[in-house]
Amino acid sequence: MPVLQDVEVKSEARRRRTFAVISHPDAGKSTLTEALLLHARIIAEAGATHGKAGRRATVSDWMDMEKDRGISISSSALQFHHRDVVLNLVDTPGHADFSEDTYRVLTAVDSAIMLLDAAKGMEAQTMKLFEVCRARRIPIITVINKWDRPGLEPLELLDEIESRTGLRPTPLTWPVGIAGHFHGVVDCASGDFVRFTRTPGGSTLAATDRLSAEEASAEVGDDWTNALEEVSLLESDGYVHDQRSFEDQETTPVLFTAAALNFGVGHLLDTVVDIAPSAGPRLDAAGQPRPVESDFSAHVFKVQAGMDRSHRDRLAFARVCSGVFHRGDVVTHEATGRSFATKYAHSVFGRDRETVEIAYPGDIIGLVNAGGLRAGDTLYSGTPVRFPRIPPFAPEHFRVVRPVDIGRHKQFQRGMTQLNQEGVVQVLYSELRGQQAPVMGAVGPMQFEVAVHRMEHEFNAPVHTEQLPYTLAMQTREEDAQRVDQRIGAEVVRRDDGALLALLTDKWQVRGLRHHHPDIVLEPIVAQS
Ligand code: G4P
Repeated sequence: MPVLQDVEVKSEARRRRTFAVISHPDAGKSTLTEALLLHARIIAEAGATHGKAGRRATVSDWMDMEKDRGISISSSALQFHHRDVVLNLVDTPGHADFSEDTYRVLTAVDSAIMLLDAAKGMEAQTMKLFEVCRARRIPIITVINKWDRPGLEPLELLDEIESRTGLRPTPLTWPVGIAGHFHGVVDCASGDFVRFTRTPGGSTLAATDRLSAEEASAEVGDDWTNALEEVSLLESDGYVHDQRSFEDQETTPVLFTAAALNFGVGHLLDTVVDIAPSAGPRLDAAGQPRPVESDFSAHVFKVQAGMDRSHRDRLAFARVCSGVFHRGDVVTHEATGRSFATKYAHSVFGRDRETVEIAYPGDIIGLVNAGGLRAGDTLYSGTPVRFPRIPPFAPEHFRVVRPVDIGRHKQFQRGMTQLNQEGVVQVLYSELRGQQAPVMGAVGPMQFEVAVHRMEHEFNAPVHTEQLPYTLAMQTREEDAQRVDQRIGAEVVRRDDGALLALLTDKWQVRGLRHHHPDIVLEPIVAQS
């Protein structure tokens, strides 16, 4: 690559921040996303991205089901600017049933914001997603939201974060006054007081209200003194932000916000710009870093269809890992060795698509007509590279699925293949059940609803489904398959990559099998590379 372009790519990569927000449903993710965009002046009025009933449609909601339920099933990426930095916010589905999707999305980001509800602290889904971030070594900024309402003590929340995650929380702001009787925060770096003002409806940009320590003391008295005392105690105990320990996932900076009132959101945006890691070299499947200035490469992290009813296409989301992407480039699809023409590339903002002409490391591109692409695939030009496959989750719910009209077996097969490739559900086959009655495996039952809905409306092949009594799947070997299959309440099915999965009712059955057949191999599910 020419030297000048090298310099350009490096500097563009340095000004990219690619991140996601992880949270338990209802912690305020949509509200925060909206507020971030408002601060970045992408939207004039909060409400444009929100999917809750009675509000304008969210930019990331596209299916009827999503609108009905007010949840976000599909992922989209929002790109916006703050100061001189380009922020790529990758949306993650809020509902626990779509955690597999969230897992895929998290392969594309360089940092995450862990959003907590001040009254609830670390919740089940927060913990699950945190574990994914930890496994992927993603640095985390913690945001404690809804501080305008009664909640837990801030010190109690820090304790909980530390004991549950093992990360040392390092407050960047500290609340003045208790949750519910909230005056504002101490900006730990400057020692200033940032006053909390209620903006009517939270729909317009709140004026920043910064006061000096003296002014703060005169205004809120004891609450200010107490807050300062707590900050200095925390500091002397070493609860202080350190960039290196944050990047090494030893600490998590903490901010207090009231997203619905736009409080603390500007500070969060500045924090992301100042401390979140920029787009750096990504590791390939062999663990070798690919420098950002290398030839173009991108990692597909999600494939989905039907975002736009008028264009029944398939869209693949990919993160640019190195080099420059120009629309129209013909790149190589690593898995097949075939060329892939990127004639139509879009940045995706919910339903609105904008054509992308150029993209740099850290950016998310949506490639249309991506029939042959799958999550985990690599695209490159020049020097070949393969990024790691994305391991499939272990399904916990199983349903057998059959076409209502057996005359529609072609449509049925086409739909099943596509839903499997997109990872909407895992479609598992066995000789015993045959091609017309595969098993669908999912992490959450709502995935089945999406599959059934799409089979009828998109593939024109309505289906019946029937629940199976299994709750776990384990990988087994060809030589063990028959013995597992013969057990009552167990069966063996094949995943599309050839892996054999033993479906089992519960862990007691696994123990029983191991007891009677100590030589049988039953292992936790792993990706086939
Ligand atoms: P989610 O995407 O994480 O599921 O959460 P969402 O933003 O939809 O927020 C869940 C609820 O929490 C919403 O209330 C929202 O208004 C409220 N909320 C979010 N941030 C704050 C905050 O800082 N302070 C307070 N007090 N509330 C907050 P809802 O009753 O479900 O809907 P709505 O009709 O109030 O919007």
